Amino acid sequence: PAPPVAAKEDFLGCLVKEIPPRLLYAKSSPAFPTVLGQTIRNSRWSSPDNVKPLYIITPTNASHIQSAVLCGRRNGVRIRVRSGGHDYEGLSYRSIQPENFAVVDLNLMRAVCVDDKAGTAWVDSGAQLGELYYAINKASKVLAFPAGVCPTIGVGGNLAGGGFGMLLRKFGIAAENVIDVKLVDANGKLLDKSSMSADHFWAVRGGGGESFGIVVSWQVKLQPVPPTVTVFKIPKTVTEGAIDIVNKWQVVAPQLPADLMIRVIAQGPKATFEALYLGTCKTLMPLMQSKLPELAMNASHCNEMSWIESVPFIHLDHKDSLEDDLLNRNNNFKPFAKYKSDYVYEPFPKTVWEQIFNTWLLKPGAGIMILDPYGAAISATPEGATPFPHRKGVLFNIQYVNYWFAPAAGAAPLSWSKDMYNYMEPYVSKNPRQAYANYRDIDLGRNEVVDDISTYTSGKVWGQKYFKNNFQRLAITKGKVDPTDYFRNEQSIPPLIQKY
Ligand code: FDA
Repeated sequence: PAPPVAAKEDFLGCLVKEIPPRLLYAKSSPAFPTVLGQTIRNSRWSSPDNVKPLYIITPTNASHIQSAVLCGRRNGVRIRVRSGGHDYEGLSYRSIQPENFAVVDLNLMRAVCVDDKAGTAWVDSGAQLGELYYAINKASKVLAFPAGVCPTIGVGGNLAGGGFGMLLRKFGIAAENVIDVKLVDANGKLLDKSSMSADHFWAVRGGGGESFGIVVSWQVKLQPVPPTVTVFKIPKTVTEGAIDIVNKWQVVAPQLPADLMIRVIAQGPKATFEALYLGTCKTLMPLMQSKLPELAMNASHCNEMSWIESVPFIHLDHKDSLEDDLLNRNNNFKPFAKYKSDYVYEPFPKTVWEQIFNTWLLKPGAGIMILDPYGAAISATPEGATPFPHRKGVLFNIQYVNYWFAPAAGAAPLSWSKDMYNYMEPYVSKNPRQAYANYRDIDLGRNEVVDDISTYTSGKVWGQKYFKNNFQRLAITKGKVDPTDYFRNEQSIPPLIQKY
């Protein structure tokens, strides 16, 4: 139910006492649509039928965030937090059901401070990953950070939900490389690792955004990379043997040395093998010839470069200036999109690859499949060490990506996405069918709110898919740090209150 108008006015009245008015945007303000729209990445969530926030607050320091939480609590206005706005279902800035909420948009808080001697950095949540990578490289050519592939992703959401990219086999997920945080909790208190409970610190590193407070900044452990790495992209069509090579890749790629990551982008009748190797072409070639000779990789495929250059090379397929590729926050690629994900533990029979390449990827509305091999570091960490549970035995992760560019063109891609997901069921993880929290998929389920609290039973439906047995510990932690469920969205962790 809508709060009385007076309550809304009180919220704004409360905010203006603590936060400069130039950092506040009411729905009626002329700049509101621009500020709201600037980091919407999925155009499906731009249309007028989405439930929008009443206010947007763009803090420039932690005390503004504390004030926003305290004013929100006093006046019955919830807060959703947005860092990079890449949430696949747009839950950082829209609500699916009618709700009065404000968005704390961290766009203006994006400092990165690297201590190359200690091998650590503090990064604000509103920085994009490209800004973090760039700042690390400015300080040291032999340090890196293992987070997502796309440079415009927000640090806040990516680290909160796990975060992986081409370094996942060497260094695991971003969240397990977080060593401290500064966070505003549901009481408006500013906490760090030493002042929050061990469970709270565990939960913010991979338990998904929104649920456990607003992370202002993260201290991360940087990881060593050699001055020269090697990248290749080798496309193979079905007529060039793509099916046989992918069939072999699925068992070989998870067993390779940790220094080598070979992912596959499957699109139409073609598989592109994209690799990052933490070493030179000279040592990569014999490795490829012994492990996956079918790919016929040779010196002409090698692109030797620094790790920082490999980021845009993998993502964008080209090399502009690093500044353009990594620091540009105005990416205009804003398609309509639907994403789903799966985890695979048993190699697919070859007939499944045949079906995928000869039938599914050729259908009207067909999407792209991104196949990320696991093994090595990401699989070595115990399932309970962080909330991210997709570890031992995972061969690869699948992301199904569907894009379209006209509002009315969604029917075929949306039905492909659903049908493809149904087709894959027998061949992927079961009980639960696992999914990656950062590839948010609302079809997996959403919370029911009873007596103003999201219920544990409704959360369990989607939550065990993202977090397996870690879901219960996340819910108990939520019950301790935010028992009244102030920070919530349709897939936030519900509070499980334990009665002793
Ligand atoms: P956004 O701001 O939308 O937030 C996402 C969620 O986190 C929301 O629930 C939000 O409320 C919450 N949140 C945001 N900031 C927070 C904060 N400071 N404190 C607490 N909660 C916060 N993933 C990956 O691991 N590897 C990859 O390579 C890619 N590639 C990729 C490419 C593209 C084009 C997109 C659109 C997405 C990806 N992703 C990805 C998925 C991405 O990691 C995921 O969408 C992240 O949650 C996005 O983080 P943002 O801060 O940008 O999102």
